[in-house]
Amino acid sequence: MQDFTYCSPTAIFFGKDSEKYIGEQSRRLGKKVLLHYGGGSIKQSGLYDVVIEALKKENISVVELGGVKPNPRLSLVHEGIDLCRREGVEGVLAVGGGSAIDSAKAIAAGVPYDGDVWDFFSRKATAKKMLPVGVVLTLPAAGSEASPATVVTKEETNEKLGLVNEVFRPVFAVMNPERTYTLPPFQTACGAVDIMAHVMERYFTNEPDVAFSDRMCEALLKTIVEQAPRALENPEDYASRAEIMWAGTIAHNDLLGRGRIEDWSSHGIEHELSAFYDAAHGAGLAVIFPAWMKHVYKQNIQRFVQFSVRVWGVPYTANDEERIVLEGIRRMEQFFISIGLPVTLKGLGITDRNYRRMAEKASLSAPGVFCPLTVEDIERIYELAE
Ligand code: NZQ
Ligand code: ZN
Repeated sequence: MQDFTYCSPTAIFFGKDSEKYIGEQSRRLGKKVLLHYGGGSIKQSGLYDVVIEALKKENISVVELGGVKPNPRLSLVHEGIDLCRREGVEGVLAVGGGSAIDSAKAIAAGVPYDGDVWDFFSRKATAKKMLPVGVVLTLPAAGSEASPATVVTKEETNEKLGLVNEVFRPVFAVMNPERTYTLPPFQTACGAVDIMAHVMERYFTNEPDVAFSDRMCEALLKTIVEQAPRALENPEDYASRAEIMWAGTIAHNDLLGRGRIEDWSSHGIEHELSAFYDAAHGAGLAVIFPAWMKHVYKQNIQRFVQFSVRVWGVPYTANDEERIVLEGIRRMEQFFISIGLPVTLKGLGITDRNYRRMAEKASLSAPGVFCPLTVEDIERIYELAE
């Protein structure tokens, strides 16, 4: 196990009654906050009114910016930064899923910075400070409510870049699983796969002696495999929604990766699908992860055997490693299909074989750690995903 430091300071308020904390927690953001949200789901569900009321009770002034799109865009981030500066906003409250939260983080980092906030994403500069960000979560998926990461797309250049910096962890997250009842099945399924992917990017490591975090990863994966179909069958099943929501946070607040060397290749390779084709992140991962596995499993076949046996219940038989691994990957694909997601690029509607270009870009963010990847390797992964 590697040495590590770990600090996840986001205060979590979880459960049916958690919304009563929105007001008092938002005081930590300042006297004037930017309320940042997506395309309107929070208005339809009535959550918008709950938030406005809570802020009003605490005499917090509100400046609003809605319209965050899935795969949040840099242009709206720029608009948010200008608005915050003009209005003297002191903190940002994101209400929604990963896109609203990531956009909020980018705005909050851009406000006190003299240059263009994209400098942080293109690694020209490092964010040292930001406005505080609070979260009211409506979609368990990205884990951004407690993660030190943000992912933003620059439209003109088709660049979707992620950025990790400890200053990006929100100060609080209010999480009421009932707010996820209204999720369309597709978003529930995408969320389930994204949560699993966050665990698997950490699980596939060559680091020895990580038995405890292996077991935590496996428990989380099995929880999603068990609960996602239940939530899809009965969207108002509180128990399943709660399990998924809590698992989503733990999957990506860095707890599971401590002591391990992580590998974010599948995310990097997927981000090109989102950047070029605006694919939903979770759906893209359902296509890329199995293909990545098929390409790299020989690198550490024992780890893949453990994954197949413990997570997917493939029976163990000696000297039969390859069959066990391929059966595990097959069962994972079948699970993704069973929750309504495609596992091929064709199924995502992507048929133009733009692989070289995407692979060249992906190789910058996904050079491979568990298994080093060249541009040709990444091209092959796209081919395996056809
Ligand atoms: O925009 P609205 O109207 O709110 O609708 C959203 C959106 O259309 C809808 N939705 C959200 N909550 C809902 C709801 N609809 C009904 N009822 C609710 N309760 O769902 C749609 C998708 O929302 P979005 O926020 O885009 O989804 P998600 O949470 O999956 O976030 C995806 C983004 O997060 C990034 C991804 O790359 C992608 O851009 N990621 C961020 C990470 C991080 N910051 O740590 C890590 C992840 O790996 C991921 O890359
Ligand atoms: Zn993800």
